[in-house]
Amino acid sequence: MTKLVHVERCDGIAIVRIQNSPVNALSAQVRGDLYNALQSLSKEEAIVGIVLAGSGRGFSGGADIGEFGGPAGSFRAGEDPARVTALIEEIDKPVVAAIHGFALGGGLELAMGCHARVASAQARLGLPEISLGVIPGAGGTQRLPRLVGVSKALEMMLSGRPINGKEAALIGLVELVVDDDPVSSAIRLIKNRQAGDGVGHATRFMQVPGAGKDNQAEIEKARSRATSMGAKSKAALKVIECVAASVGQSFDEGMALEREAFSQCLESPESAALRHVFFAERAAGKLDTPGASGVGKISTVGVVGGGTMGRGIAMSFANAGIPVRLLELTEQKANTAVEAIRLEYQRQMDRGKLKAAEAAGRSALIQAARNEGEIGLCDLVVEAVFEDMQIKLEMAQRLGRACRDGAIIASNTSTLDIDRLAQASGRPADFVGLHFFSPANIMRLVEVVRGKGTSANTLATVVEVVKRIAKVPVITGVCWGFVGNRMLEPYLREVESLLLEGASPSQIDHAIEGFGMAMGPCRMMDLAGVDVVAKVVEEQAKEGRLPEDPLYRIVSRHLASVGRHGQKTGEGFYRYEGRVAADDVDTHSLVQAMAARHDVKQRQDISSEEIVERCMLPLINEGYRLLAEGIASRSSDIDVVWLTGYGFPQALGGPMYHGERLGAAHLLKRLSHYGSTQGNIWNYWTPAAMLAAHAGGNP
Ligand code: COA
Repeated sequence: MTKLVHVERCDGIAIVRIQNSPVNALSAQVRGDLYNALQSLSKEEAIVGIVLAGSGRGFSGGADIGEFGGPAGSFRAGEDPARVTALIEEIDKPVVAAIHGFALGGGLELAMGCHARVASAQARLGLPEISLGVIPGAGGTQRLPRLVGVSKALEMMLSGRPINGKEAALIGLVELVVDDDPVSSAIRLIKNRQAGDGVGHATRFMQVPGAGKDNQAEIEKARSRATSMGAKSKAALKVIECVAASVGQSFDEGMALEREAFSQCLESPESAALRHVFFAERAAGKLDTPGASGVGKISTVGVVGGGTMGRGIAMSFANAGIPVRLLELTEQKANTAVEAIRLEYQRQMDRGKLKAAEAAGRSALIQAARNEGEIGLCDLVVEAVFEDMQIKLEMAQRLGRACRDGAIIASNTSTLDIDRLAQASGRPADFVGLHFFSPANIMRLVEVVRGKGTSANTLATVVEVVKRIAKVPVITGVCWGFVGNRMLEPYLREVESLLLEGASPSQIDHAIEGFGMAMGPCRMMDLAGVDVVAKVVEEQAKEGRLPEDPLYRIVSRHLASVGRHGQKTGEGFYRYEGRVAADDVDTHSLVQAMAARHDVKQRQDISSEEIVERCMLPLINEGYRLLAEGIASRSSDIDVVWLTGYGFPQALGGPMYHGERLGAAHLLKRLSHYGSTQGNIWNYWTPAAMLAAHAGGNP
């Protein structure tokens, strides 16, 4: 037997274990080995029953996603993924799945093909294929409705969310839930079977429960939900079609439909993008520099600054069970921030998002610090004070003195020079940037900024803790704005140029949201605060970082100077009635006057295509510069930053993936087009050297 499937025989029962570390993915080889093992066991007279289990962390994480994108059709060219379950259903001995850890996707489909299932209470069972833009392809769409009914099956497949063993038992997905080892319970289940009890149920022969008319109503309800599922809509509609077949057609007809629908989804650009996102997120936290001799343990965290950012950061750690001390200018201010956090947890509890005990537990983990000495005892201290170099320099210096030996000091700056701050701390090896995004307790992205002197151990330790608090760490080098904000700059520059040329805020936002961004740039600036946005530009001006272009981002700077600070003041790019934004004649007049003053010719013919291209091309171009400079080490890291921090559409896989799909030659052609229509005085349309090189090699 190969090493990927291990068979053990014990007292007439065979235990077949999948052994494909790290998650027992069902690669073609695993499926082949399983088939052979089961077939030969079915013929062994001494074997009266078979337990199917996984080794290591779980039962199985499903189909090997890496095989989906291989050479054309490589996944389908292998044997039919449903072949193993078809065989199990034919075996005249009980085959029982023993599920621990997780049974996801193809893993759960395999279990559903068994004659019975035993799961540990904490195991996670689900069909998350929708997150990858595909549908279950090994019988899941046919067996799940038969086991749990149409409504629950649709809910599980359309949300992709796993349920635990206890819930699985409640809805009939598993026959038995246990607190201890499911394998021994599965053995007992087989042994306890009375002679003549048969082999258990082959799911394929079951009828989908529920009245036809109720099932039809559920299917219709799901159809209307599926159309608004963005990148996942296509797969969602296919899931629904297959579930409808499970009700109205034979098992074999349903399987044929599922196979065809799975192939169509697999070949869709949305699925390719979502698979890219899956692997990009997992690659993002990988350290590309060896040298870390060990990952330090972070048991306590200090947060300096109790503003919106500081509070969100404190909650992020407490949510993962890590105690936090929060320091403010005075103890009273620290108490106020801690109280505000308690109220936020209370609010989450009131809205049913947290249980009372969880809210109380998390609140209790965050305490006000009385002085720097208390903060200095923590393993990691994150400063989230006002974004001003002088203030941050002073704080770095103070923390360098106050923090105990071996502690890590992090700055939550979104743009400032980490190397200068590290130097000020006097402890560059212990210093790192941790750029959380607002609201920090919700947003998953953290840019981990590695300074020149940041030690390998410091980096490895913070990456580990960022993952522990369920966020996505992306390692970047030091430059203004790191990856995200540096790319945001040329994007917003073009937004403001388009406004000057006559596009309205809603026209721009509509085009960009049509492209798929979660929020248009004008609404985004209004929400962030136009004053805050403008200050970032002014700070760059002070440092001599801006081109000498007199029009550079003058719209936001002017709006800020006349007090139009966005949603919080009721007017910014838009005018607000509560949260509802509407184009405003005053903004229009202000921008028109600015354009006239600077001889910018306004036009009526700005199309959505132009808006999208002019905003996206410079952004992607900047991404190539970041790669060439080594600020980002993988283009997929840039994608993760924009997907998780800026609402870039998942269906497009991130700006770099999208750019690659458009092709370097195309990008170059369009940059050159805008270089000639817009003029290229400030080199805005000059292609990055790396992009030009790509296009050279890819005519
Ligand atoms: N196919 C191929 N590789 C997979 C995989 C799969 N189905 N599931 C996980 N992996 C890989 C990851 O890429 C990662 O590889 P790396 O270490 O080289 O980066 C490794 O397994 C560990 O995965 P990770 O997600 O980091 O571990 P985790 O403990 O946080 O979560 C799972 C484990 C199984 C819950 C999670 O990986 C998961 O949800 N996987 C996808 C399940 C799925 O969608 N299955 C249906 C496929 S159609």
